[in-house]
Amino acid sequence: MGYINAVEVHNVVKSYNVGFQKIDVLKNISFSVKKGEFLSIMGASGCGKSTLLYLIGGLDQATKGTIILNGKNLNKLKENEQSAMRRREVGFVFQFYNLVPNLTIEENILLPLLIDGKSYRKNKSKLNNILKIIQMEDKKNRYPNELSGGQQQRVAIARALLFEPEIILADEPTGNLDSKTGSEIMRLFKSINKDFNKTIIQVTHSEEAASYGTDILRIKDGEIESKKSNFKTG
Ligand SMILES: Nc1ncnc2c1ncn2[C@@H]1O[C@H](COP(=O)(O)OP(=O)(O)O)[C@@H](O)[C@H]1O
Ligand SMILES: [Mg+2]
Repeated sequence: MGYINAVEVHNVVKSYNVGFQKIDVLKNISFSVKKGEFLSIMGASGCGKSTLLYLIGGLDQATKGTIILNGKNLNKLKENEQSAMRRREVGFVFQFYNLVPNLTIEENILLPLLIDGKSYRKNKSKLNNILKIIQMEDKKNRYPNELSGGQQQRVAIARALLFEPEIILADEPTGNLDSKTGSEIMRLFKSINKDFNKTIIQVTHSEEAASYGTDILRIKDGEIESKKSNFKTG
């Protein structure tokens, strides 16, 4: 369709009531993410990065303002449309992988299908493709606790790719990994961004991880400090 921005954030405010106090976590945030962009969101711990990412993914609602995802205003979607969008148009990757321990790698990757009530068998070919992308064809019958952290994160990325979403949202995806493994995961994201033309938004507090992005957004005290193209990106 005729939109060029994967994500538009317009004047978003997010406040929490804690006791009798109202805390403005995000004060008045506006920016857009073009299709095919790989945006790194940076900022000190507690500045609202995860909050912003969850608002974009429709996992939480803004106090004020508008978020447009793939041309659709999240505020205007009905509840069932919102949840369908979360399942099919966005892929989530988290810091601690969030794999199900008693399911195999293959079952973990296919889990979104089960949740969506889709046939498991019809999607076997998709599974094989995805296993190739994450280079784990030989591990599909293993369980998460038999894998390293980096391998578990690859599985989480595979699961996020299953519905071929246009947008991948990742919250500190290398936050729990050593720097060498972190770089491997970043290179995987980079190739998913370039070779499959996916829009990626990652939250990170590592300058090294952020440098894989095409753009860097910095948040400070609930406001945008800057959003710049990253010319160093490879
Ligand atoms: N459900 C909540 N209720 C109250 N305060 C919250 C809630 N969620 C997050 N916060 C507060 O919002 C701020 C931003 O949190 P978060 O988005 O997780 O920060 P970051 O990801 O940048 O570390 C923090 O001060 C946090 O304590
Ligand atoms: Mg966070």
